[in-house]
Amino acid sequence: MNIAILCSGSGTNLQAIIDSVKKGYIPAKIALVVSDNKDAYALTRAKSAGIETLVLDKKDFASREEFDKEIVKNLKKRGVELVALAGFMRLLSPYFIKEYKNKIMNIHPALLPSFKGTAGIKDALEYGARVTGPTVHFVDEDLDHGPIILQKAVEVNDGDTEETLLGRVHAEEHRIYPEAVKLFVEGRLKIEGRRVRVIARRP
Ligand code: GRF
Repeated sequence: MNIAILCSGSGTNLQAIIDSVKKGYIPAKIALVVSDNKDAYALTRAKSAGIETLVLDKKDFASREEFDKEIVKNLKKRGVELVALAGFMRLLSPYFIKEYKNKIMNIHPALLPSFKGTAGIKDALEYGARVTGPTVHFVDEDLDHGPIILQKAVEVNDGDTEETLLGRVHAEEHRIYPEAVKLFVEGRLKIEGRRVRVIARRP
């Protein structure tokens, strides 16, 4: 299966997926890495792994949909069947979501539906949550909302700062995101309403 990863930043989740593909844990090919930020370190990671990259500047497009049409065109050209958002800091248009319905995943650094939005770690810490952790979910039209695939609880310690908590949440992200991608690629995720069933591997 050909997959694509969309990133805007450092790309540590991209790296975890690259490493999992290399090890043969994820039986797929990363056909394209797309970024809306030409300076994203994720692009350096992709290039070092010999993965094709595409950079798009929102200033070159009249609307969100036009921008997304260009991405979708490039994904289809490469036969991409799964799109993984990994720190992609743009909302997808309804057009994109329809074209790849139930085939787009995202990773969020809090236990959804808590602490949606771009400050999931800071918000959990400031709220005083005792437990937080990452969520991998399918993407639908609403922000941080689609059916949940995997979550992992991380305890918040009294002495935690945003940095220390982020470190432990990231460590779990780098485990559960490759796992979720693997399950999808192996055809083992079944969406039933809001619930996602993980189908056991055949013996
Ligand atoms: C992660 O914390 C993820 O949960 C959020 O964006 C961050 C991306 O980090 N959606 P990286 O670029 O993968 O290092």
